[in-house]
Amino acid sequence: MSKPRILVARVIFPEVIAKLEQHFEVEHNQADEAWPRERLLAKLQGKAGVFTTGGERIDGELLAACPSLKIAANMAVGFNNFDLPAMTAAGVLGTNTPDVLTETTADFGFALLMATARRVTESEHYLRAGKWQKWAYDMFAGSDVHGSTLGILGMGRIGQGIARRGAHGFGMKVIYHNRSRLPAEQEAACKARYVSKEELLRTADHLVLVLPYSAQSHHAIAAAELAQMKPTANLINIARGGIVDDAALAQALRDKRIAAAGLDVYEGEPKLHPDLLTVPNVVLTPHIASATVPTRKAMAQLAADNLIGFLVHGKPLTPLNPD
Ligand code: DGY
Repeated sequence: MSKPRILVARVIFPEVIAKLEQHFEVEHNQADEAWPRERLLAKLQGKAGVFTTGGERIDGELLAACPSLKIAANMAVGFNNFDLPAMTAAGVLGTNTPDVLTETTADFGFALLMATARRVTESEHYLRAGKWQKWAYDMFAGSDVHGSTLGILGMGRIGQGIARRGAHGFGMKVIYHNRSRLPAEQEAACKARYVSKEELLRTADHLVLVLPYSAQSHHAIAAAELAQMKPTANLINIARGGIVDDAALAQALRDKRIAAAGLDVYEGEPKLHPDLLTVPNVVLTPHIASATVPTRKAMAQLAADNLIGFLVHGKPLTPLNPD
């Protein structure tokens, strides 16, 4: 019997390709860049599954053009590249990679928070530019992390990981806002107190965004929200671009409406709003929150196991829209 045909849309670990090849006839994009949409659609003809990496939009148009498709397995916990209702209507399964990246991503959220609060990259650029000539009482004086108030918007697994680090590691007061309040034992485990979004904005010294992107969370942080934050506050976005209005944020940073920001994700990435590149008080990283070698391997393995589980054994591991 011939093996099902699948497409791997980006370069991934060779050992994961080798594993997929045991079960499938695999076509693998080996160029180090995404295929343009037309090429992706052409490549998907006759394929039962696609391994996606978060950038490939699986929507009604693609599904209509690719009737053989049965599953799209995302190597990411976020799945805002999937039009899930359209996939469900077309009988196409979506899967993602939860859990395996939780602690790594929470580590990075904290790294970005620390770098932002303590002006790590700004001071490094100064040093590399040969500008360090003397001591000054206020040179790169930032904000304290220990004992401060950590605000978290979106309290899923990653948000709770950040809360635990803040409460137990740095003695921070943790407040959060989420669509629904956590059960009491989960709040106790990360010493977090539920507050309104208004209180979160008004009182956080460091506000970390960890909520999923959706039409409802589009520009959840825009000019009006930034105006409610303390002028000494830092904003950290490791969730998705589009949750923050980047133009409004650049303006708030320029006007010192807030102290600083740390961003790993951007609306329209990999392009950045040009104003973000010209303000000094922002730490910018290229969507790397889950990027450690073990975690990226675990994510790729889980996406592959979802394809194998579903197309070979009829049972995906982490389905988003099961029957
Ligand atoms: C995710 O898994 O959603 C992260 O953003 C990495 O892509």
